[in-house]
Amino acid sequence: MKKRLLTGDRPTGALHLGHYLGSLANRVTAQEEYDCFFVIADLHTLTTRPQKSHIARLKENIRQMVLDYLAVGIDPNRATIFVQSTIAETFELNTLLEMLVSVPRLERIPVLKEMAQAAHLKTQPFGLLGYPVLMAADILLPRADIVPVGADNRANIELARELARRFNRMYAETFPIPDYQIEDTLIGTDGCAKMSKSLDNAIFLADDAATVERKVMGMYTDPNRLSADTPGQVEGNPVFIYHEAFNPDLDEVCELKERYRQGKVGDVEVKKKLVHALNNFLDPIQERRTQFERDPDLVNVILAQGTQRMSAEAQETILQVRAAMGLPSYAYVKAPQGIESVRGLALV
Ligand code: TRP
Repeated sequence: MKKRLLTGDRPTGALHLGHYLGSLANRVTAQEEYDCFFVIADLHTLTTRPQKSHIARLKENIRQMVLDYLAVGIDPNRATIFVQSTIAETFELNTLLEMLVSVPRLERIPVLKEMAQAAHLKTQPFGLLGYPVLMAADILLPRADIVPVGADNRANIELARELARRFNRMYAETFPIPDYQIEDTLIGTDGCAKMSKSLDNAIFLADDAATVERKVMGMYTDPNRLSADTPGQVEGNPVFIYHEAFNPDLDEVCELKERYRQGKVGDVEVKKKLVHALNNFLDPIQERRTQFERDPDLVNVILAQGTQRMSAEAQETILQVRAAMGLPSYAYVKAPQGIESVRGLALV
């Protein structure tokens, strides 16, 4: 049987080149090897932004995210794509796992404080403290073996592993201990360590050619290079990092680097060639996206199928969890032999 992989995204808006390189490209290849689950973690967005005005944008964000998935080549017939809040068992497992972790243990996870600060929250909501527990519920519900995440989620996966071990030890062997894979991050157009929507340094998968051009022409390069005839630095220079990642013409990239180092090429030429390479990379993605957008029901159908598949797994897990813990649960029972009329729910 194939191993299971689970990863996910908060539906905060459009996906960008950083998501592509760090995560989406891996997901597309992982579909061959693993039974993949992709959770769109709407509940996680509520940990810092529970306002109705925020929730009102989620449905559209979810739709855009699914279209981005499809456009890059995630195949809904092989991967299970679902929305976190539509799986009732997520809430259920979350509550049960909350009993197995101490408050100080959660308070030691640094990203949570950073998230509270970034969202300008004066105090930390109870739900935000539980962010990693909710993630553990996502991971353990389909009994995932492997979880690819960005480095900022490492501590959260450590907790999920800990909870799985604790559950297995206290009750009965139920969960595989999930391994994690740390994804690469892509530098932003401004030279900041990470491309991110909130830092306003991202090129989105859905950006049109003119937007890509504007963003690339404004990109940060080697700050010490004052004119085209001064030798420039290629290492750590975002323009060259993007060339390496997205320009398939290796000879061109090599030649540009050489000339840049020698002070024989201007930033404008290097950037123009990058615009060309990026638009060539994005064109087929955007064409596929436009095709998928034409069918207004497609996203709903995919999410309905994904919910159905995930629900079946979730129900199976919760039955095992309740049995392991000795909690009461209801199951459908067949009538005992000789009795015709009894068929229904029974407490087991
Ligand atoms: N916390 C992830 C993020 O940074 C999203 C997420 C939610 C997730 N549940 C997950 C990632 C489970 C991996 C596994 O947006």
